[in-house]
Amino acid sequence: MSQGRVLVIDDEEISRVLLNKVLASWNIEVEVASNGQEALRILQPDRFELALVDLKMPGLDGIQVLEKIKKIDPAVDIIIMTAFGTIETAIEAIKKGALDYITKPLDLDNVKIIIEQALKTKKIAREIENLKTYPDQRTSFNDMIGSSPAIKKVYQLIEKVATTDASVLIQGETGTGKELVARALHLNSSRRDKKFVPLPCATLAETLLESELFGYEPGAFTGAVKRKIGMIEFADGGTLFLDEIADVSPATQMKLLRVLQEKECTRLGGNQTIKVNIRLVSASNKNLSEEVEKGNFRNDLFYRINVLTITLPPLRDRRRDIPILAQHFLDKFNRKNKKKVKGISLQAMVMLSQFQWPGNVRQLENIIERAVSLDTDGLITPDDLPEHIAQDISVITKSSSRSSDDDPSQSTLKQVIETVEKDYLVSLLKSLKGNVSEAARRSGLAHATFYEKLKKHKINPAEYRS
Ligand SMILES: Nc1ncnc2c1ncn2[C@@H]1O[C@H](COP(=O)(O)OP(=O)(O)OP(=O)(O)O)[C@@H](O)[C@H]1O
Ligand SMILES: [Mg+2]
Repeated sequence: MSQGRVLVIDDEEISRVLLNKVLASWNIEVEVASNGQEALRILQPDRFELALVDLKMPGLDGIQVLEKIKKIDPAVDIIIMTAFGTIETAIEAIKKGALDYITKPLDLDNVKIIIEQALKTKKIAREIENLKTYPDQRTSFNDMIGSSPAIKKVYQLIEKVATTDASVLIQGETGTGKELVARALHLNSSRRDKKFVPLPCATLAETLLESELFGYEPGAFTGAVKRKIGMIEFADGGTLFLDEIADVSPATQMKLLRVLQEKECTRLGGNQTIKVNIRLVSASNKNLSEEVEKGNFRNDLFYRINVLTITLPPLRDRRRDIPILAQHFLDKFNRKNKKKVKGISLQAMVMLSQFQWPGNVRQLENIIERAVSLDTDGLITPDDLPEHIAQDISVITKSSSRSSDDDPSQSTLKQVIETVEKDYLVSLLKSLKGNVSEAARRSGLAHATFYEKLKKHKINPAEYRS
């Protein structure tokens, strides 16, 4: 099967012939054009995945061709070919939406890596677009817990994206699990046996961040006594995770761009260029494309770090995960604090399921940790939860009955609670092997109420007695 379809546009016959031959030998379908006009005649929507465009051509130059191609078929990725001296213009092309550039004379090994990577990324991006949540029984993935359709989609995305070397940007509110996703990407990639190097960009001042990233030579600045290896160099062969990348200063952004473009770096105060092979994963809880529009983040760097995006939905949009997460954290803090809290009462669970969770999973984790340490009677009940949780609930139940749960059918809050209640009762009965009196006790409900609820949800405890 062909790896993809590529259009080569170059006025030099020798490079057309060469590329035609080698691309075909790499199992790629090729067509060639000797100038922009000819290319635009050949081009049709959906006909090519990739175009290799020479920058300097008589008539339409590479940048003009790029702009016209993007109008006909915005999905075509464009790689600019340029003589070594004209890299500035190539960078200009990247700002205009080119994927990458390669320098002439062509280094075929390099060309092969760039083209194959681009085609593979393209294929995966397309698969992601068509990703439908197939029946997926998972309730966890690596260290991530959750079984809502929205989180399962994230699991599937990670699996797909991990196999490429493409730079991934993880977006999502605070506490949604961006770092967990970054780790999962590394663990599911071919780099899993190499290092995963996280770097929190926001907490470090500019100069400190730069010396962490690039390292330094002795004498680079006052206090630089010994050589220090930077994180980029340290991560060689593995994955570098730049957390909160929106907070990187403009000067450092430019240096990072160079690392990604040239795949090399220089220690501060040094003059030796060091080749590095890293996979970059970045995260931000700010909307990075908005930061680009506001002028706070470089457009060209944004293209480089955001070849593929994973967006984590806030917890309030996947409320179905709350019970399973709450149980997971209960087990965790029982173990950690040597406590023996047996469960969470139904009323407390319903409260947790209705809360807005501005701090997302991290906030839920903190609240369960607090409840476990406060608890004295072996059961987490509403009075083990902070007061603001109950207050917040009364506000939302009054103001809106709709929630944007991940169900396509936009379930109402009431439906979500019903689901939570049912899931809760079933999992309780399962874990207690159908022991109704114990289940009633742990749910904090009177026997009669417990039976009523079983009846309402058509749950037969006998089924769990095997
Ligand atoms: N799906 C999940 N399953 C289990 N634990 C989770 C999940 N999502 C998040 N957590 C836990 O919640 C906490 C916050 O997660 P993480 O640090 O990955 O969030 P974040 O998106 O990076 O947040 P921030 O933007 O504030 O840095 C961690 O303790 C993490 O283990
Ligand atoms: Mg984080």
